[in-house]
This record gives sequence, C-alpha cells and structure tokens, in this order.
Amino acid sequence: MRKIEFHDREKETKEIRAILDNRPTLITFVYGPINSGKTEFINNLIKGIPETQKVFYINLRGRFISNYDEFIKVLFDVEHEARYGRIKEFLKPIVNVLPESYSGIPIPKDMFLTLFKEKDVEDAFVYIETVLRAFCEGGHAPVLVIDELQVIGDLKVDGLLIYKLFNFFIRLTKELHLAHVFAVTSDSLFIENVYSEAMLEGRCRYLLVDDFDEATTAAFLEGHGFTDDEKVLAWEYCGGKPVYLLELIRTDNRGREIERLLRMRAGELKTFLKTLKELGDKITVKEERYDISYENIICALKMFLDEEEIDMWSIDEISKHYLVRNNILFLDPDRGIIKPQSRLNLLAVREVMKDV
Ligand SMILES: Nc1ncnc2c1ncn2[C@@H]1O[C@H](COP(=O)(O)OP(=O)(O)O)[C@@H](O)[C@H]1O
Ligand SMILES: [Mg+2]
Repeated sequence: MRKIEFHDREKETKEIRAILDNRPTLITFVYGPINSGKTEFINNLIKGIPETQKVFYINLRGRFISNYDEFIKVLFDVEHEARYGRIKEFLKPIVNVLPESYSGIPIPKDMFLTLFKEKDVEDAFVYIETVLRAFCEGGHAPVLVIDELQVIGDLKVDGLLIYKLFNFFIRLTKELHLAHVFAVTSDSLFIENVYSEAMLEGRCRYLLVDDFDEATTAAFLEGHGFTDDEKVLAWEYCGGKPVYLLELIRTDNRGREIERLLRMRAGELKTFLKTLKELGDKITVKEERYDISYENIICALKMFLDEEEIDMWSIDEISKHYLVRNNILFLDPDRGIIKPQSRLNLLAVREVMKDV
C-alpha cells in the first residue's frame, strides 16, 4: 500500500517548538479525539528535533501493563539491550553510544535486574533522573514523551502509580528544569481527571491536537488530486479526521466511500443503542457501579441534532462517561465542551436520532 506523506501541522509544530526552545517548566499534556493524528504529529516532530536534544519516546499503546514489572519493562528499553550490546559506564559515554533508533530509557540488563528487584518505583525514577541529567550535562537536552499515558491510569503500585509519575514529572520540569515532558493521550476522561487534579494545577499546560481544520483538510486533499467538489464533500462528511481522509485518498470512488463510511458508522451506533435498550449496561465511575439509562443516553445524543458541540456540563455524568468511554463523544475540559469524536460520528448520531 502506498505510504501517504505527513501533512504539516504548522500551528501545533510552532507551539511545541516554542516550548522546546525554552527551559522546561511545565508538563505538556497533548490531547485530542481518537485518530486525530497525535502520535503521527509527535513522531514527525521528533524527526525534526535538532541533535542538541535527545528524545525518549515511550508508547504504552497496546502494551499489556497490569503490574509494576510490566510497566518498568516498557519504560526501559531492556529488550533492546542485547541488540545494542552492554552499555558500560553508561553515565559518561552514553550520548555517543546510543543508536539513533533508541527510544526507551537506556539501561544495562544486569543493572536493570538488580536495581528493580526491590520493586521500588522511586528507584526507577532516580535512575531515569540520573540518565536524563547525564544527557543534559552532555549537551543534549532530554525530551521525554509518553504516549497513551492513560494505559497506566489505574495501575496501583503501593498507591496509584500515576500520582508518583506526575510528581516525578513535576520534579523534572518545574523543579529541576531537567527535561521536557510530554504526555499524550486520546482518552478524554483521563484528561478531564488530569484537568481537575489539584497536584497539577499551575504545573502543566494543555495542547490540543484536533482533527485538521477546514483549510488544512483542503490543502491535504488538494495535494492528492481532489477536485473542489470532492474537497467540499469530504469536509462535509469526514471533517478533518486524518484516518477517514486517508480512506478517501486511497479509493477510486470517493462518493461511494463516503456513503459507505457513514452507513457503517450509523449502523454501529444503531446496534450499540439497540443492545443498550434491550440488554441494559453498567459503568464504573470512581469505583462505583452505575446503571445506564437508555433514555438519558438518547436525550444526550439528541442535543447534537442542532449543535455540533455542547457545554460539557449539560449532560448527566453517567451518560457522559458512558458515551465518552465508548468513543462516541469527545470531551475537551480545557474548552469546556463535548462533541462527537468525528464529523462522521456527528452525522451518524443525527441520522440515527432522527428516527428515535
Ligand atoms: N498530519 C498527518 N498527515 C498524514 N497522515 C496523518 C497525519 N496525522 C495522522 N495521520 C494518519 O492518521 C492515522 C491516525 O493518526 P494517529 O497519529 O495514530 O492518531 P492518534 O494518535 O491521534 O490516535 C494514522 O494512520 C496516521 O498515519
Ligand atoms: Mg496515538
């Protein structure tokens, strides 16, 4: 399959460059709807980062992390150690020794085994801090990126691990100014929690990587030979969601593909609501189980018949959690709004709500 080139995200790139050009003071949370291109954006950005900075990119997506050992294994690039040979006296020569592709926190295997036997997460943080400091002093400002951070949101290691991690990030940024820290997530309930977290107040900033705006979408499609009519149609149905635009680029019959995508999304939503109506469902919020009210869900979705986005306080909490967790709605706590995860989702919601 043909690889589609990265389409520039000028505004977001500028914002991150400005952050990287200054000394680290805040944690940056990069958030946005699913498939808006956060990972792609960050990876592209990493490619353009000058040699004076050293990026550690850790993606927790698809990693099965249910305990401390698994978290530590993902955090550190232990598996790669054999491939790269032993990194002796890692503190001094490390900057020159590491291959370009190295992305986890480097650690020799035997040190890893002894250091983390005790299962004390603070040891791991002390180690990471030491490594980052070595890079810093070696003239390579470290940048730590953790993608899909919510994966460990509920993990308990003698208390919630995420709080320890936040504390550690605050230390690296606000206190020591040692490393830039970017935490990326598609999970808007996680971001909502982060947003209301007292310990992070004044210690972090939020960067939204949303679907492309209209001009960016048009420019992207223009580059792939779309006519003006096709561009209008694509924007009307798919908005600026990169994954859907890629589908359209790859197909011969764009009109038919749009219809198919919408039919599919509407069908999924119908099935989802039918199942809820007939079988009911429950959700856990703050460790309590709640029944889902079908009527409340319909009531919430009907708000989108006339609006593209709504005030985030206008839906009851249970329905909000349920619809966000099921990737139907996206919540943006920084702007105080809720909207469907994509333009296609909005149209599917409208289509299905017409007949309910
Ligand atoms: N700026 C872009 N230019 C080209 N393709 C993109 C761009 N952003 C995202 N994509 C494509 O869209 C898909 C979803 O992007 P991804 O970064 O995985 O989303 P997210 O991390 O926000 O869930 C990927 O297949 C990616 O290649
Ligand atoms: Mg991603």
